[in-house]
Formats: sequence, C-alpha cells, structure tokens
Amino acid sequence: MKLSFLLLSQIGYLAVLSYASVVPAEGIKTSTENTAASTFWFENVKRTGTTAYRNVKDLGAKGDGITDDTAAIQKAINARTSTMGVIYFPAGTYLISSGLKATSYSVFFGDPSNRPVIKASASFSGSVLLQGSVGTSSGLGDFFRTVKNLVFDTTAVSPSKSLSIIVWSLSQGSQIQNVLFNMPVGSTGHIGIQSIGTNSPTFLNDLQFNGGAIGLSLSDTQYQLKSMYFNGTTTGIKVVQMLLCTGQGLRFEGVTTGVDSTSAGSAHFNLIDSSATNTKTVFSGAAAAVNSVVLQNVQVDSTVPATVQIGGTVALTGSVPANQSWLKGNQYAAGATSSKASNGELIPTTRSASLVNSSGAFVTVVPPTYQDLTVAQVVNVKDHSVAGDGTTDDTAAIQAVITSAAASNQLVFFPYGTYVITDTIKVPKGSRLVGEAWSQLVASGSKFADIKNLRPMIQIGVPGDVGLAQMNDFILMIKSASPGLVLLEINMAGTKPGDVGFFNVHFPLNMGGTITKPATCSSASNCPSNHISVHMTPSSSVYWENTWVSDAGGSQQSVDNGGGFFVESQGGTWINGVGSEHSGMYQINIHNAKGVFLCIHQSESAYWQVQTQAATLNPGSWSSALLPGEPSWSWCGTSDSACRVGIYQYVTGSSDIHLYSSGLWNFPCASDACQTYATVFGNNTKMFVWGQGVINSKVMIGELSGTTISPIVTRKANIGSNFNGLSPSILAAYLRQSA
Ligand SMILES: *[C@@H]1O[C@H](CO)[C@@H](O)[C@H](O)[C@H]1NC(C)=O
Ligand SMILES: *[C@@H]1O[C@H](CO)[C@@H](O)[C@H](O)[C@H]1NC(C)=O
Ligand SMILES: *[C@@H]1O[C@H](CO)[C@@H](O)[C@H](O)[C@H]1NC(C)=O
Ligand SMILES: *[C@@H]1O[C@H](CO)[C@@H](O)[C@H](O)[C@H]1NC(C)=O
Repeated sequence: MKLSFLLLSQIGYLAVLSYASVVPAEGIKTSTENTAASTFWFENVKRTGTTAYRNVKDLGAKGDGITDDTAAIQKAINARTSTMGVIYFPAGTYLISSGLKATSYSVFFGDPSNRPVIKASASFSGSVLLQGSVGTSSGLGDFFRTVKNLVFDTTAVSPSKSLSIIVWSLSQGSQIQNVLFNMPVGSTGHIGIQSIGTNSPTFLNDLQFNGGAIGLSLSDTQYQLKSMYFNGTTTGIKVVQMLLCTGQGLRFEGVTTGVDSTSAGSAHFNLIDSSATNTKTVFSGAAAAVNSVVLQNVQVDSTVPATVQIGGTVALTGSVPANQSWLKGNQYAAGATSSKASNGELIPTTRSASLVNSSGAFVTVVPPTYQDLTVAQVVNVKDHSVAGDGTTDDTAAIQAVITSAAASNQLVFFPYGTYVITDTIKVPKGSRLVGEAWSQLVASGSKFADIKNLRPMIQIGVPGDVGLAQMNDFILMIKSASPGLVLLEINMAGTKPGDVGFFNVHFPLNMGGTITKPATCSSASNCPSNHISVHMTPSSSVYWENTWVSDAGGSQQSVDNGGGFFVESQGGTWINGVGSEHSGMYQINIHNAKGVFLCIHQSESAYWQVQTQAATLNPGSWSSALLPGEPSWSWCGTSDSACRVGIYQYVTGSSDIHLYSSGLWNFPCASDACQTYATVFGNNTKMFVWGQGVINSKVMIGELSGTTISPIVTRKANIGSNFNGLSPSILAAYLRQSA
C-alpha cells in the first residue's frame, strides 16, 4: 500500500485552491434577506457577495420537522462555486428521507446557540445520513472538511437497520466538533461516525452519542479523540484499524464496551483522563504483543466490573489515578537501556501542575463559538477597504482593522477569500479573528526574503504580554519562496488556558505548488523558504486544536521549508491534533520549553530528502541562519544523507514534556536505509512518551548528549503489527528522560 504515491497523485486537485476568485452566483438570495430569529452573529453578519456561504433555508429548506428537506439541503451543498464553503443551518429540525453528500472543502455549520437537528425520517432509504468524505473508500487525499454544531437523530428509524450517520474517511484538516448523535437505545445497526479504508486524520472533538450500536467505528492511521460522552451506546469506540490513538476526556455511561481495540489492525491506544459508570468493560484489547495500551487517570466506580480486558480476560479492575500509568506493551523504563515487554504494570508518573486542571487531567478547552456576540460586536474586514482578492496588498488595511477592533473589543471576521500580506501584522491583546470555511492569509514579497532577518507574517503580542488572542478557521500560506519568513509568531500567554488559542488554523504552505521561486532555485534542496511555520517564544502559553503544517505542493519537491513548529514556551502549552510534516529540518522542535502537552503528532518526512537523498544535506541552505535550539546535525558524518534527513521531533533542554501518540511515517523508502533518526531527544527532564510509531527509520529515538548521539530505541527492537503491508514499529512508553 503506497500511501505516499496516493497522496502525491491526489494532491494535484488542490491546485484549484490557490487564489481562487470569489464570484457571486446569480439567482441565489443571500442570508441578509433572511428574517432570522437567531441573533448569532455568523448567521446575521452582512455578507459581501461570495458564494462561499449558503444558508440552507435560502435554498428552500424549511427546518420545520415535517417537510422533506433532503433535496433543498443537497442543493445548498452543491450550489457553491467557490473552492471552499459553508453550508449553514439555522436552528430547526430538518427532516431527510435519504442521504446527503458532501463536496470537497465543505463546512457543515449549525447555529451553536440552538443546535439544528438533522432527523432521518422513519422511512429513510439508504445506509448513510451524511457521506462526509468525497471518495467511496480510503481518504488519504481528502482534506479539509468540517461538521460542527449539529444534532443528528436516527431514533425514528428501525434500530436494526444498518445505518451510519456520518461516513468520514478523511485526512488532515478535517474535524467533527460539537455534534450530538441521537440513536435508538439498544440499536444493533446504527453507527455515529464511521471511517473505512485507510485515512490520515488527526482530530475529533466534543461529541455526544446517545444510544446506538457503535459511537465511532474507526479505520485510520492515527487519531486524537477529545471530550466525548457515550451514553447508552453498546460499543463506544470500535477500532477496526489504527496505529496510534489517544482517547482523552471520554465518559462512558451505560455502555457494554467503552473501547473495543481487539482487532488485529489496532496497534497502540492511550486512554487518559476518562471515566466510566455502569459499563461492563472500559477497554478491551488483544493479547498479541503488538497490541499495546496505556491508561492514565481513568476513574471507574463500583458499577464497572472490568477496567481492562486483554484477550477476553479481565486484566485490571478499579481506577488508575492521575499519577500512575497502567501499561501493556514495549517500554524503555527510566534507567533501562533496552526494551521490556510489560503485560499490565502500574508505573508512577507525574504531570506538570501548569498543564492540568484541579482534578489532575490535562487541560482541555471547549472551542469558542462566540455565540453570544451579535452583529454589532463584529467587524467584517471587507467593510474596511480589505480586498481579500488574492492580488491586492491588504497588509495596511488589515492592520488598521485589527488594531481598532482590539481597542473596541470587537471580533474580526474575514469572509472567505485570499488575503495577500507583505509585512508583519501585529495582533494585540484583546483580539479574536475568525475566518469563513478557511480564509487564506498569504505571505508575499521581499520583506520575507532575507534569510538572515526573520520576519513574522502574523505576530501575536510581544514578549511578556498576557491576554486574549484567538484565531479560528484560517489557512496561512506563502505566495513566493520566503527564506526570512515565520508564518506565525506567538509571544503571548493567556490569563487562562485557551485565551491564547488557535482552532482549526492550518499551514498547507505551498498549496497547489504555485509559489514563485527565485531563478537560483534548481531543486528543493537549494530553495529555502519559510524558515518556521509556527514559533512559540519563551513567554508564550498557547492552546491548539486541529492544525496541519505541510508542504502540500503539487509536487512535494518544490522548496525546503525549514521547520514546522518551534516550541520554546515556558508557560504551559497544549498542542492537540497536529499534523506537521514535510519540512526540511524538523517537524516539531521543542527547546528549553517547560510544560508541553503534544497529542497526537502525525508526521511524514520531506519527500525530496528521502526520495533523492538530496545533494544539499541538512542544515543545507539554513546553515547560515540557524537559530539557537535548531539542530546542527553535528552528530552526523558530512555526507551521511540518511543521518541528515529532517527530524520529526527534536526535543532538547526541556522539562515536563508529554508526548502522546506520535505517528512518524516515511513512506517513499522501501527500507530504513534512507532515514536514520526519527526523533532526537537530548537533556530533558520529566519527559514522557506514550505511543510512538515509525515506518522506515532505523532509530526511533536517538539520545543526544552534547554532540554525541546514542541510538537507544531502534526500529528493529520494536517491530509492530502488519499495516497494509507495511511493518510499523510501535513503542508504548519511553521514560529514560522522565526523572
Ligand atoms: C442519555 O440518553 C438518553 C436516551 O437516549 C436520554 O434520554 C438522556 O437525556 C441522555 N442523557 C444525557 C445526560 O444527555
Ligand atoms: C478536568 O478535565 C477532565 C477531562 O477533560 C474533566 O472531565 C474534568 O471535569 C475536569 N475537572 C475540572 C475540575 O475542571
Ligand atoms: C498519587 O497521589 C495520591 C494522592 O492523590 C497519593 O496518595 C499517592 O501516594 C500518589 N501515588 C504516587 C505513586 O505518587
Ligand atoms: C543541558 O541543559 C542545560 C540547561 O539548559 C545546559 O546548561 C547544558 O549545557 C545542556 N547540556 C547538553 C549536553 O546539552
């Protein structure tokens, strides 16, 4: 199964995405003509002629619970002519009699202040309510889709009918959030969310399942499942196929099996900060050595007979406290030099006080909806001389709006469009920026060209700032090769976690492969661009949900993007559901940081490095511009191309570092000969790694001391399950720097 080539071939259609102009279609009313009852700003904000927003009621849906709205909703889905778009549902009950089908880059968005209900009629025909992915099988090339603030109801349909509410075979940039699935209690056929084939997504969050046979039925490479409530669902989560998964903040009530991870296709599962009552088995796993599991802070009461079953036998009863981990799988214990297979062992562990809430769980935040704001509290940038047309330089006009909105406590709305930015936009305390579907901020021009003078496109606060700064629903990318660019620099800390927050903000850098390059660029290896996508400086404290850094070029051979995430935060930082991949030097670099929760991290190497063993080896073009804390590769021979491949996770001089579920994939290579080190960890304390998987790297974890590297955790010592013909290596726990 060649995931890489699938991805490469399917990525071509992203080309249409870049700088798409937004042309109003004729004959379709805009929502301004709607006499909406809701005061929710997003429903009522004046819209400036784009087709990227469709209110289903404008297309004829009634939402009265009686009229069959199937055709009208599908018309709203199909009516868009912009590349990306929102299908908006005002409050109401929308009866459907057959399935709906999503299109690429669509967002299904309900009024959060009164979540609309999509109700299947008793005579519903078909087996899917919402086909959320565009293909019929694997979704490795299907990105950017959202379903949020909705209720789906199948209680009128026969409980034995085979029915999936949402089919979701998708990859990065996709998200289902704040959705309630109402299914008949005791149903044998209804499934809330189902993925099929092979997919590479990262995040699902804040969901509730009532009744049903299965809440989530998953066939994916990795996933973080955050804040979910399974209420009377027979099986909460059925893992059909999954290399690395973390369930966080799951609540099981009246469930038969919380997580069924017994299939041969499941590798490692972390279940953390979760609870169960009146539930037969919280976690059920397979006995094979390749199936590993970690439980931390799982609270059960006396109504729960089995916390863990392995191979059908009860392996653990009672709760696991927040300062312990129950582990089955391969671990490198503190002080141990080789791996040890544990078959159910309790290990004392610690969590940094800066990262947890008062019950010891890692902090989670409910993503903001701003549902209490009215239109008067929102400023639309397009009402203030901002063009968003993909060509006009919008820098000064955007800066003016952001500065004045922060001073008057207004939310800043960027309607769908492409906003060209040629110099740093300064985002002060008191800022909330919201895009539509994914509004695109594009760095362009000579100010970002000097490799020795780093300049951010978006700069959040100045060092020492404590306040509010949030961004939601954006894409940040580049228009021309920009070696002096940091796309997003964050200096601010929040007064509480999430106040400095980034939700559904992505960095598909070279989307469509259309960026312009200097004549001196003959290959990616001599074409440095975008030194760092996200830099969190020491004074920052940041909360992230669902983000993706990628060189999603038409050809992944285009430029050498230096680093994905560079984390120096010392105030507590949570990075949830992250894909960071294809950068030249590192995908995530954590340096001198204090308190970082990273869950999950999906990654792939830069194809141009591992496919061709590029002529210019790391640090390559960046050698004259390395920042303190960036890797030097001094531990590699000068011409050792495999040793000098970009590092997925480079973690040095840091403490209180918690890495959950890292999927670090090198698909282009047929063996581990073209990449030596997946990760390099040096000189850290209180560092805990729970669940790491690699494909085709010789060393999973190299330990760095000064300039000497030790290949402690090897791929060969941790060979895992067969996954579509690949043999990933899976490590359950790495604790050698946990003291
Ligand atoms: C749990 O599900 C039942 C049956 O579907 C429903 O009546 C009840 O309200 C749900 N509980 C909560 C707390 O949502
Ligand atoms: C802490 O977080 C957990 C998991 O997300 C949640 O269940 C719990 O209610 C939170 N506790 C407090 C006191 O906020
Ligand atoms: C865990 O914390 C509890 C108090 O919450 C304490 O009694 C117990 O000794 C701690 N266990 C370990 C292994 O630190
Ligand atoms: C380890 O970190 C400390 C403090 O950050 C620093 O003084 C020391 O030089 C580092 N040692 C190595 C080998 O990197």
